[in-house]
Amino acid sequence: MQAALTAAYVFHTLFAGLWVGAVVLTAWKVIPLARDGDASPELLGSVVSGVSTITRVGAIVFVATGGHMAATVYGAEGLFAPPRGHVVLTMLTLWLVMTGLVEVGGSKVRSALEQRKVRTAARDAGTFYNAAAVVGFVLLVLGGYLAA
Ligand code: HEM
Repeated sequence: MQAALTAAYVFHTLFAGLWVGAVVLTAWKVIPLARDGDASPELLGSVVSGVSTITRVGAIVFVATGGHMAATVYGAEGLFAPPRGHVVLTMLTLWLVMTGLVEVGGSKVRSALEQRKVRTAARDAGTFYNAAAVVGFVLLVLGGYLAA
């Protein structure tokens, strides 16, 4: 059905921008401020919990919409055909990697914040959010390639 496919593209793209944008801003601005002790535990906790929520809702959205798009547009054979099929499989793999990085970063922040240690939280989680931001950037590049 054309309407369902269009809706899948819209939600997929919407969440791609929302998720990568949220992770990049956290890695680029919020974590460095927290590392310098310029963020309260409440602020850091709230930002990290928001990013976790987008990541988890995004998991449902990406699997549902990406799965629908892959099944409709590519089919089983198309997914294993280079180059576009391989790009979609890479997208799926990088989504898993990025989700893992955000989840580990979030759990590091949460455990340090139990003792209200903002600087420790930022130090422990910084690398994970930075890596997640880089993976997110690559994902959007792949998305741009597929869109063209
Ligand atoms: C479960 C994980 C995912 C699967 C199975 C998946 C699958 C797909 C498929 C099948 C397409 C359509 C390709 C085409 O039209 O030829 C697509 C497009 C796209 N994907 Fe993903 N994807 C996933 C995760 C992600 C993530 C995490 C991002 C970015 C954060 C992302 C960003 C995009 C973008 C920007 C497009 C282009 C949309 C367009 O054509 O207008 N995807 N994806």
